[in-house]
Amino acid sequence: MTSDLAALAYAASAVLFILSIRGLSHPESARTGNLLGMLGMTLAIATTLAIIAPDLQPVTIALILVAMAGGATIGALLAARAPMTDMPQLVGAFNALGGGASLLVAAAAYYSPESFGLAGAGDAIRVSARSATELSISALLGAVTVSGSAIAFAKLNGNMSGQPILLPARHVLNIALFLGIIAMIVILAMSHGNLEYAFWLVVIFALVLGVTLIIPIGGADMPVVISVLNSYSGWAAAALGFTLSNLGLIITGSLVGSSGAILSFIMCKGMNRSFSNVLLGGFGAEEAGAAAATGGEDRPVTRGAASDAAFIMKNASKVIIVPGYGLAVAQAQHAIKEMTEFLKEEGVEVKFAIHPVAGRMPGHMNVLLAEAQVSYDDIFELEDINSDFKTADVAFVIGANDVTNPAAKSDPSSPIYGMPVLDVASAGTVLFVKRSLGSGYAGIANDLFFHENTMMLLGDGKKMVEDIVKAL
Ligand code: TAP
Repeated sequence: MTSDLAALAYAASAVLFILSIRGLSHPESARTGNLLGMLGMTLAIATTLAIIAPDLQPVTIALILVAMAGGATIGALLAARAPMTDMPQLVGAFNALGGGASLLVAAAAYYSPESFGLAGAGDAIRVSARSATELSISALLGAVTVSGSAIAFAKLNGNMSGQPILLPARHVLNIALFLGIIAMIVILAMSHGNLEYAFWLVVIFALVLGVTLIIPIGGADMPVVISVLNSYSGWAAAALGFTLSNLGLIITGSLVGSSGAILSFIMCKGMNRSFSNVLLGGFGAEEAGAAAATGGEDRPVTRGAASDAAFIMKNASKVIIVPGYGLAVAQAQHAIKEMTEFLKEEGVEVKFAIHPVAGRMPGHMNVLLAEAQVSYDDIFELEDINSDFKTADVAFVIGANDVTNPAAKSDPSSPIYGMPVLDVASAGTVLFVKRSLGSGYAGIANDLFFHENTMMLLGDGKKMVEDIVKAL
């Protein structure tokens, strides 16, 4: 394959990746987006194989194809088996693999520079200073991604406590590790890659840094961390692309790096937290204290049964449904769709209000509702529907908590103060489906449970909605 043709093929795959990201930004076009991404990746891999194939033995090509088939099978099986609520840790695990791949390729290129077209001039020069710097940056980013993603995975998967682990002088330790890494990169570059220990110290310091950066962050902030690590894995790949002069890697790595960074920023904005507030950690520590504080709540609440909810909604003219993380846990989306159909048959106007950070990952609620085939026309974003609650007879909140909490507006000492919330309290009646009066992700009490116009429907989301459907 000529280099012009290869550049053209990589450019075509880059265009497919961009169209893929565009497609993924809306549930209606998400499937097409996924397909375009797969097509782009197939083209990029085929191009790379076409470039290297003439220099390879047939057995090496066969090994590459077997490894690809094995990886694709394992990936497809894992993704198909993981429940929706486990998606963040699945992405975390895949990030670790991406970072690990960059680390291994960087190490391979360091040990066998001639195979990667990097050999320096003469015996004393293993690789050029530039290649040594680029290789160590790829190794650094890859190693931070591997160990950081492993911790994020363990926290989300319950293999270790989600509580922040605050080491004494952790900031000093992190700065020392970072400076150590910079020093080793400089030593490696100045020695033209000859001082092996410097390469491995970059890797070791980076692996430790991945752990020390992530352990102070509470389990609940892990989705943001996963997105940040996703971004790192992209930059690691892009750095490798420069070293290996591979246009495909540079473009794909930059796309992953920048989209991961933008997504992390959007999540932080939705939670009204700064990037540094999330990444410096400690948020979950407040959570534990606050959660304990909510435990002894004994103010009176109005409790209702499914039949009460059915009666109220049947007689309403406008109902706004607010789904949250508990909808995903209960897998109540199909029951909700059925309830919506019944209400519409009764002439009730039904809309869905989606908060940007409802659930545990961006678009979590949209995906669940799309799975149950709720019409996109009935689904509205926070800013488009918030003023509608005033004219709604019922706000039906299912498995959502923080995204409705008025403390975000009224209590400056609250950890979620300033986060935009859905104004459910302005509706005539608020029906709250959850299992207890316990807190949500942020671990703080929700005053709304005790409001006069609130009725608590305590129970599992799916069971409660099925009972409401029966009563309807
Ligand atoms: P949460 O505030 O976490 O509340 C979810 C509620 O669901 C809980 O209070 C829980 O109460 C209830 N629940 C759990 N299982 C249930 C079941 N089987 N049936 C019925 N209810 C159930 O959720 P939210 O309102 O969606 O807010 C999301 C939170 O996650 C926000 O604080 C946000 O900042 C954070 N977050 C979001 C993201 C993204 S990108 N979406 C990323 C990171 C963090 P019970 O235990 O009483 O049932």
